[in-house]
Amino acid sequence: MVTVYDVAQACGLSIASVSRALNGQPGVSQATAERIARIAGELGYQPNEVARSLVAGSTQTIALLVPDITNPFFPELVKGVQSVADENDLLLLLVDAPKDADELRPRLAALQRKQVDGILLVASALDGRTEELFGDVPAVLLDRGRSGRHATVRVDQEAAGYAATRHLLDAGHTRIGHLAGPEVLEVSQDRRAGWARALTEAGLPVEDRLVLAGDFEEEGGHRAGAQLLDRNPDLTAVFAANDLSAIGLLALCAERGIDVPRELSVVGLDGIELARYTTPALTTVAQPIRELGEAACRSLLALISGGGPVADVTLPTRLVAGASVHVVNRDAAVAVGVPR
Ligand code: RIB
Repeated sequence: MVTVYDVAQACGLSIASVSRALNGQPGVSQATAERIARIAGELGYQPNEVARSLVAGSTQTIALLVPDITNPFFPELVKGVQSVADENDLLLLLVDAPKDADELRPRLAALQRKQVDGILLVASALDGRTEELFGDVPAVLLDRGRSGRHATVRVDQEAAGYAATRHLLDAGHTRIGHLAGPEVLEVSQDRRAGWARALTEAGLPVEDRLVLAGDFEEEGGHRAGAQLLDRNPDLTAVFAANDLSAIGLLALCAERGIDVPRELSVVGLDGIELARYTTPALTTVAQPIRELGEAACRSLLALISGGGPVADVTLPTRLVAGASVHVVNRDAAVAVGVPR
């Protein structure tokens, strides 16, 4: 393996001069630095990243912890983070974010030992003790996690739940169930609050029996959807807290011969690409998923560069109209959302 010593010998210069030039540090003329780089290239010199990071005080590495890479929402989020990491020559470590704080803590501690420059976390489980584990490592909470000690980048989840339910109300529905996300997550709590606010605003009762929690996956949507419909046979619409839950509900309706949208209208939330290809195409409140990843990485870079605290970022959602909502009241049709 070619070392910096070999490069120095070939250049007839000191190791210190060559090391400064190869690490882009001052103290070497431009012409000499170019000559060193040329000779290093000719020798096939590969910088020792560990040594370089010790010199630069940075590993040029950030970590992104996400809870479920089998859900299409998260790979899209990763692509957004990756695009900004690439722009800044950063290595991105993708780590599974466990649902349990006791499992999360050792992973955060390991990242700290690895000297990552910063952490992006989709926080399914974050308690005070865990937040301490970030230590002085710059960190941004992405998608989940309430504003507080760390900057956040997310959408207004309550408003998203409200918009989904409002769309069904505007189409004339008055018996609207809610297929909720995991109750422990604040994104689920906020979306349910938006559903409840829309019903209350319309003068409709908000009853617990109208809500059943899934698990943000197709199976949970199918299972909890069945229970919701069994418990409320008079429902004409359901707001599902994420698209995968809605897809599970669509499968249940197909099994039971329930016509979507005529017998049951369904609205999801996320705007994953798969939602375009369900039968019928799912109407959904789309999150700017890739933009969330891009914005979170930019916020983290601002923190790393020491530019002081960064503000929370809230991005807008938009209603994407598919074919899963039946307009019960023609006069209400004007409220239908953005066509695909
Ligand atoms: O579909 C997965 C859900 O978990 C999304 O709604 C996203 O907001 C994440 O929190």
